[in-house]
Amino acid sequence: MIIAIDGPAAAGKGTLARRIAQSLGLPYLDTGLLYRAVGRRVLDAGGNPADPIMATKAAEDLQEEDLDRSDLRGGPADKAASQVASIPGVRAALLAFQRQFGSRNGAVLDGRDIGTIIFPHADIKFFVTASLEARTIRRHAELLARGETVPLDVVRADLAARDDADAKRIAAPLKPARDAVMFDTSWLDADAAFVEAMALIDKRLNPGPRQGDLPA
Ligand code: CDP
Repeated sequence: MIIAIDGPAAAGKGTLARRIAQSLGLPYLDTGLLYRAVGRRVLDAGGNPADPIMATKAAEDLQEEDLDRSDLRGGPADKAASQVASIPGVRAALLAFQRQFGSRNGAVLDGRDIGTIIFPHADIKFFVTASLEARTIRRHAELLARGETVPLDVVRADLAARDDADAKRIAAPLKPARDAVMFDTSWLDADAAFVEAMALIDKRLNPGPRQGDLPA
């Protein structure tokens, strides 16, 4: 089974995806980490993450251990991830890894193009959103918990800029798949979002008798 969870930054995709995966006994892949690790490799080499040749090479050379690095989040890493993610060569280099990951034992994957490009035939697709204000407050709290004090205005502007770049790029732009369930978490905490998502999954997997079905 493949469950695709897409949506803008800090909408709660990761927390939700991790909990769904755990509850269904499926592997989980945070695909944002792939783009983050590619961006990090380019920054480490003193390069510009917007350089297609360097970024594509970094994506082709990516190792699984790169995903375990502790410096994949925070201002420069966020921006670098978004920059490399707009490069078609980078996306092409990361596509096979994502498909293989899901094809082994099924998976829950979160990202921007899981339901549109990576697994267009996923069993269930969620497009998780939340208002910019709700996402700003969440990301601000996450940063604080990691000891980073970034003003709310800066967090808000960074999220808005990244969402805008993700939605407007030509390669795999951020958009809901036509058959995605739209899921707004603005007013839901992590527990409530999980309960509601599991109810939707249950309904999708066990639709019950349809009108017109004959009794057994
Ligand atoms: O955690 P957050 O929502 O802030 O970001 P993320 O999911 O880790 O993704 C970081 C960046 O990688 C995004 O801004 C996208 O530009 C890019 N990304 C992508 O293009 N496609 C994906 N499947 C996942 C992430």
